[in-house]
Amino acid sequence: MSEISKFFHVVTFGCQMNVHETEKIKGKLASLNMKETLDIKKADVVVFNTCCIREKAEDKAYNQIVKMKKLKEKNPNMIIVVCGCMPQQPKGKYNLKEKLPFVDVIVGTHNVNSIADHVKALLGERKRVYEIIEKPVASMDTPNCIRDDKYNAYVNIIYGCNKFCTYCIVPHVRGREQSRPAKEIYEEVKDLVQNKGYRFITLLGQNVNSYGKDLKSKMTFASLLESLCKIEGDFKIKFMTSHPMDFGEDLIKVMKNENKVAKALHLPVQSGSSKILFKMNRHYDIKHYMSLIKKVKRAIPEISLSTDIIVGFPGETEKDFNQTLKLLKKVKYDQVFAFMYSKRTGTPACEFADQIDEKVKNVRLNKLLRLQKIIEKDQNKKYFNKTYNCLIKFVNGVTMGITDGGKDIYIPNYKYKNENYFASVKVEEIRDHKLSGVIDE
Ligand code: 5AD
Ligand code: SF4
Repeated sequence: MSEISKFFHVVTFGCQMNVHETEKIKGKLASLNMKETLDIKKADVVVFNTCCIREKAEDKAYNQIVKMKKLKEKNPNMIIVVCGCMPQQPKGKYNLKEKLPFVDVIVGTHNVNSIADHVKALLGERKRVYEIIEKPVASMDTPNCIRDDKYNAYVNIIYGCNKFCTYCIVPHVRGREQSRPAKEIYEEVKDLVQNKGYRFITLLGQNVNSYGKDLKSKMTFASLLESLCKIEGDFKIKFMTSHPMDFGEDLIKVMKNENKVAKALHLPVQSGSSKILFKMNRHYDIKHYMSLIKKVKRAIPEISLSTDIIVGFPGETEKDFNQTLKLLKKVKYDQVFAFMYSKRTGTPACEFADQIDEKVKNVRLNKLLRLQKIIEKDQNKKYFNKTYNCLIKFVNGVTMGITDGGKDIYIPNYKYKNENYFASVKVEEIRDHKLSGVIDE
């Protein structure tokens, strides 16, 4: 190992996929004998891991990167790296290569694993790197990642997406579906649980339900889950994201039968109108979606449900939007992630003629969020006097039990010293959005 003793700082935008990729990038930089600093001004290497899912995400990253120009003038030896989804866009809003001449390394989504090599080379000889490639060069998975969370560990199971929803940039920046070999996943999960003490494992993929379709083995996502549940240890498995079209009964069965599968499901619906779903190329209608929800609730009554919604998709009328509100009232999700439709260059919906006015989108988003707030408050009542198997955590001096769905239950009179184990927690009080309870012995 060379004698480099420098500091790095990584700024992350976007989804869990990016959060986990950052953990891998940090691990690779640390293996160059570098250390992480939380102070960007002190860093010798600053990495921006970017997102382009919506225009706002892009603007946020771009505005922050532009500010680095001044820091770089003060410290010309600083190495600045931009990676992830933004540079990978064929016709992105910003031409990063031209607009950011002070950035030293620009790579896309398929070669984030080359960042450490470029940084190492740059520490010797200064030369700008612009490297965008169409396909992954090597597996990005590494045993050396530096994980942010000590309770939950992310594990990639499938990269890319073949779905091509008409609004989505992901297939354009993350490529086609590519499943990771089951054995590799099994070994990683086993190590995380048995050697590193993780209690939650979150399996990641743009569409986890497609797992195995590109592999020679007969492995499906449901059978992968079953095999991971055989690993000995006290842990639970979560997964995201599921596509309603590929979400089958085999998976519901595994979720119901396996104690190690968390009773939580993120099932993005996107819209409550079948007309809009068709225009989105989602391959299902509301009838199909509702039948899935019914089956899941019947099999697992305690399931915690969450979803993603886009408001103001081209052609969305008040009637379509009201159908989305109706759906929220019917399903009663525990959590909803709602977004205003954002035009993404290179996607079909960007060219649709019937775009919705920004003001209308804003009004609809606020209306939806207000409704969901009321639903959530009402939903909280269902926790009263019930007992949940929770992970016990110490957070800023407070003890909490976390449910499978990620709900915090405060435990004010906790009398033990341990954390990071599962226990039954009974909810005894609900005030505003806050749940409090006791360990049920
Ligand atoms: N505009 C708004 N929201 C989008 N999403 C994906 N693409 C867009 C877009 N162009 C949302 C979807 C997806 C979530 C990750 O982001 O709801 O499920
Ligand atoms: Fe994640 Fe999508 Fe953003 Fe890429 S564009 S970071 S895949 S949310």
